[in-house]
Amino acid sequence: MTQDELKQAAAEAALAFVVEDSIVGVGTGSTANYFIDGLGRMKDRIRGAVASSDASAQRLAGHGIALFDLNDVTELPVYVDGADEIDGSLAMIKGGGAALTREKIVAAVAGRFVCICDASKRVATLGRFPLPVEVIPMARAQVARALTALGGRPVWREGVVTDNGNLILDVHDLSITDPVGLESEINQIVGVVTNGLFARRGADTLLLAAPGGVQRIDA
Ligand code: A5P
Repeated sequence: MTQDELKQAAAEAALAFVVEDSIVGVGTGSTANYFIDGLGRMKDRIRGAVASSDASAQRLAGHGIALFDLNDVTELPVYVDGADEIDGSLAMIKGGGAALTREKIVAAVAGRFVCICDASKRVATLGRFPLPVEVIPMARAQVARALTALGGRPVWREGVVTDNGNLILDVHDLSITDPVGLESEINQIVGVVTNGLFARRGADTLLLAAPGGVQRIDA
């Protein structure tokens, strides 16, 4: 099976977690796109969706799925999204697609975070994938210095502007043994909007696709 087929298999398995007649939280990225396409087939059984990015909103709208503003939503039973890395405690690195802030906000509202991944995303220790950090533009250099002091090697993702009008620093060379602690520490740096560690609120369920099938792992 190709990596794309694995992503699609994980995304299809997540459709079983969608609650009838509910509003669904929808992530961003190539795996989430397969989920959106599946959701399109069952759009008459849901009220609509909250999107974590403009790109996902566009794809959802293309399927005729109603879009809700998160501020108008009180109940979001499920949020489905991919990850760049996920460890044994279901802590994740996200933000490869630069949508980390909205992803984290929508996930915070959701009752259950269902992470959909192909097996290549599973790691023992987070950090081989550079950790994305969204920063206010005027704070870029000072945040980079603070991240260097933490032992990382921040690289500005030049040319990328987030849906919120901010910049991304990708932090290389981190071996993240305390994801919960590091998530909080980086969020304390003035000028940081969000970092791509999803550890304080990790996934509740992982659907991990390998050639042998999709494995369900609960936190
Ligand atoms: C988007 O900002 C990311 O958090 C994605 O969820 C993550 O990069 C996974 O993307 P793929 O499904 O494309 O690998």
